[in-house]
Amino acid sequence: MQHTNIILKDVNAVYDGPEGVLWELIMGEQIHVGGMSSSQTLANKAGIQKGMKGLDLCSALGAGCRFLVKYYGVNMAGLDGTKTMHQKAQERAKAEGLADKIEFKLGDVTAIPWPDNTFDFVWGEDAWCYVVDKEKLIKEAARVIKPGGVVAFTDWIEGHIPMTPEESKRVLDFMKFPYMESMDGYRALIKKAGLKIETDEYLFPEFAKYVELYLRMLTEQLTSDALKIIGDNMELFQAMGGEMMFMLEMAKAGKMDRCRFVARK
Ligand SMILES: C[S@@+](CC[C@H](N)C(=O)[O-])C[C@H]1O[C@@H](n2cnc3c(N)ncnc32)[C@H](O)[C@@H]1O
Repeated sequence: MQHTNIILKDVNAVYDGPEGVLWELIMGEQIHVGGMSSSQTLANKAGIQKGMKGLDLCSALGAGCRFLVKYYGVNMAGLDGTKTMHQKAQERAKAEGLADKIEFKLGDVTAIPWPDNTFDFVWGEDAWCYVVDKEKLIKEAARVIKPGGVVAFTDWIEGHIPMTPEESKRVLDFMKFPYMESMDGYRALIKKAGLKIETDEYLFPEFAKYVELYLRMLTEQLTSDALKIIGDNMELFQAMGGEMMFMLEMAKAGKMDRCRFVARK
């Protein structure tokens, strides 16, 4: 499994800066593949019910928390390690009149600032790929859920066909991921944390469809908006397009993928 030297500080630079704004432009406030329908599937598989209390790990703009509060009648907490995301999440919850139902904290998901057995569920959408120590992250997630509670997440992972070290380095460097977990790697980490797996799904081949959609958004609809965000730097825009094309190639070949997990304590 290929690793880079990327740490949280490098990820902060992405989400404090123009790259984070660019991701929101092409993916929306829910910065994950499949937007609301992916969240609904995850919530339904996890058995999220009215009155539950959940924690979104890597909550970004807080859109996942707001979705769960509005459509599933839960109370939420959100933890994110980037100041800009934390601030915007608070502002947007307030603007939607949901501030009393969501508590946001700024911090690292490998050291969760809540006591043991606090939540009915822990939630994560397409973000744990940024975390260096995923073993610690899942151990922490297991610690803060109550007995019988669930950890439910989607994430970007290695595909069923291995990438070459060069291919892997190129994707990780572009995406600012320290490494991508594999399906078996996640299964092992979840079991090690003492959780029982209820859902473990590869989302191949739909991942490639979405990478293609984001590329089309950038090149066929939102070009000038994207350029504006990156200071009208056409060279950078073309370089980023090239990296996304490469990611599409990897996704189509099954070398890069996405997963969905639900595991119970
Ligand atoms: C792709 S966004 C998450 C999107 C969000 N789950 C959603 O569906 O809208 C990735 C987020 O992970 C956060 N992040 C990455 N590593 C982190 C860590 N170790 N601790 C806390 N937050 C982290 C980043 O700050 C960023 O806001």
